[in-house]
Amino acid sequence: MDAFIIHGGRRLRGTLRIHGSKNASLPLMAAALLTDEPVVLRDVPELSDIQNMCRLLESMGCEARWRVPHSAVTPRVVTVPAKVAVAGGGGGGASVAMGGSSGGGSRKVGAIPRAGSGSIDAMLAPPEDVNELTLHVTDPTSSKADYDIVRTMRASICTLGPILAKRGFARVSMPGGCNIGPRPVDLHIRGLKALGARISLDEGYIVAEAKRLRGARVFLGGPFGSTVLGTANVMSAATLAEGTTIIESAACEPEIEDLARMLNAMGARVTGAGSPRIVIEGVDELHGVDYTVMPDRIEAGTYIMAAAITNGDVILENCPIDSLVAVIDRLQEIGVEIEVPKDDCSKVDRLRETIRVASARRLEPVEMTTQPHPGFPTDLQAQLMALLCLADGNSVITEKIFPDRFMHTAELLRMGANITRNGPTAMITGVRRLIGAPVMASDLRASAGLIIAGLAARNVTTVHRVYHLDRGYERMETCLQQLGADIERVDRD
Ligand code: EPZ
Repeated sequence: MDAFIIHGGRRLRGTLRIHGSKNASLPLMAAALLTDEPVVLRDVPELSDIQNMCRLLESMGCEARWRVPHSAVTPRVVTVPAKVAVAGGGGGGASVAMGGSSGGGSRKVGAIPRAGSGSIDAMLAPPEDVNELTLHVTDPTSSKADYDIVRTMRASICTLGPILAKRGFARVSMPGGCNIGPRPVDLHIRGLKALGARISLDEGYIVAEAKRLRGARVFLGGPFGSTVLGTANVMSAATLAEGTTIIESAACEPEIEDLARMLNAMGARVTGAGSPRIVIEGVDELHGVDYTVMPDRIEAGTYIMAAAITNGDVILENCPIDSLVAVIDRLQEIGVEIEVPKDDCSKVDRLRETIRVASARRLEPVEMTTQPHPGFPTDLQAQLMALLCLADGNSVITEKIFPDRFMHTAELLRMGANITRNGPTAMITGVRRLIGAPVMASDLRASAGLIIAGLAARNVTTVHRVYHLDRGYERMETCLQQLGADIERVDRD
């Protein structure tokens, strides 16, 4: 089983391109079940969760074929010296050598002002050579999502709506337990039942049947707000229902907007995605599409905090800043310098921007409560906690989405942090330094928090069970190495 060995204390520097989003890709991939034509997805991250979804789709008769450009073998990391030399003043471009097995091509970038000399408003267009995943249903006979795959990845549940809507029958294993707390799917079932599905439970499988779903008004609000994958399931299913569906208290996450964008490109009629009310006019069929996945806001937030905790100076490309407003707000509040391109509001949704993150001092404490989007995401809670362990004072974090999501706390205490927890609230008293130690990853985002702590800690941190990380971060150790971190992956059987 792999582990990461981190020698902490190095300032991160350089440029990194943010990968496509895991949490957008999974429901986009499931939506390929809604059509008989090929669905081509670009910039899908190469993660174990994505591989598991491919396995699941293939077991349901949907072929999955990757085209990975050779330059994707190593991450597209451009090492930019601290002071960027620009040929000629304003509009002139400078060529920057690209990392990559092919030795990298050069690519014209916009004018970048000298580092540290004011705001960055140059945009680096994302490279063309992103990977491609083609999904094509060729054998619609099996509508079963097997327990053996579903137990490895809860997001398998988002195949339920598409397969039921397209084939009239689905047998999907109930997802099991999860380290971050109870994760029922009652809202998914409530939504699909409202569209006329007959649903029962049989030997741990959700069995759903409906000759054709019927449009209806569906309320998806639960005890912790709405449900992201529940909204994805019901919205996808409603695209092929007879009549109009109105989802009330829908999740407003950017990944839902991305899904709606792709569904509409397939011929669906979805309006209101990104707001709590989504309207879907059902159609008889959907066609194929060629779609580029949105960048990963949680990966971006994680690297922003890695740069901040090391007092680094990092440029992040392909960064979905408008899906990180609450995060950028909190981080600027505690003293992290985050330079974003000048905003003349000409672009409503700034999905692929270049930002600079720098920090050169001890950060301030802060209060933060996780909330559904556009609030502070629960998937960045552990990373922020690690950062606040070194802040100058007392911070308070309240976890409102998964009240038990604190597996990382005990491990941070092992590194010398000072944290007291009371139910869904943790108080973090900043310490001068963290000390490296062997720690155990328990879930995807908790492990990212431990990596961030290890980057700043004195001595050596060994993070065990990094398979958790591989579920959501593409080649994290290589990306961090390129930014100057001393981190390596070792096999620790
Ligand atoms: C998505 O999970 C994400 N996963 C999670 O990210 C993320 O933490 C979560 O949304 C919240 O933002 C993917 O997109 C693949 P929910 P999802 O249904 O949709 C309760 C990561 O690290 N609830 O929005 O499964 C539930 O228990 C993962 O990448 C019900 O009560 O989460 C929770 O308290 C971890 N009944 C709250 O709602 C239901 O039927 C929000 O859960 C469904 C959910």
